[in-house]
Amino acid sequence: AARPLSGRKVVITAGPTFEAIDPVRGLTNRSSGKQGYAIAQALADLGAEVTLVSGPVFLDAPQGVRRINVEAATEMQAAVEAEMAAHSVDVAIMSAAVADWRVDNVATGKIKKAPGGAPALHLIENPDILAAVSKSGPLRPKLVIGFAAETSDLEANARAKLSRKGCDWIVGNDVSQDVFGSDANAVILFTRDSAESWERQSKRDIARRLAQHITRHFKAHP
Ligand code: C5P
Repeated sequence: AARPLSGRKVVITAGPTFEAIDPVRGLTNRSSGKQGYAIAQALADLGAEVTLVSGPVFLDAPQGVRRINVEAATEMQAAVEAEMAAHSVDVAIMSAAVADWRVDNVATGKIKKAPGGAPALHLIENPDILAAVSKSGPLRPKLVIGFAAETSDLEANARAKLSRKGCDWIVGNDVSQDVFGSDANAVILFTRDSAESWERQSKRDIARRLAQHITRHFKAHP
């Protein structure tokens, strides 16, 4: 098989994050990780050296991919940054559904149900991993790709996200249809000056198409 991405280093985040409340409870979301895992597989199949930084999901690591398991957003960010510091990363794809907030006052022991009423959770904002990776500097990957899950105004919101986060491409996802946990997806790929709609198809086919796009990008910009 052709391995047009051999020698290219890729970091992908996928899945949800899990933000602890106490040692047994936490805040998370319904991301399945399927799209990110499929992208990791598709890029490895084209010869890329892929590190998958994954939140808790029920999926096997793709063949030929190095998986780093994390829980909290702060751990996910540290793993991505360590990867970028260790070797020059060509492509970063941030497909994880990172929790927007984490609990500030994480309890060291299990919080007891008490007659006094429910405990108060104080939330603080998580770091924006995509925005941090997109910042220019010597470690910035050549190509930084984010995701935008929107229920309305996909084009306007995805374009706004592209410039606000400073990434190069955004994969826009219309999540008003059935996407979460599904094996199919319909997306629009936004670059700085173009948009391309990909009709509903398997997440594996979306992943292969994105991998082809990345391959073409590096042919044009070696
Ligand atoms: O606007 P929103 O934060 O939902 O944008 C989603 C994109 O940003 C996704 O690519 C997601 O992986 C990334 N993101 C991130 N860190 C966050 C929040 C979102 O990397 N804290």
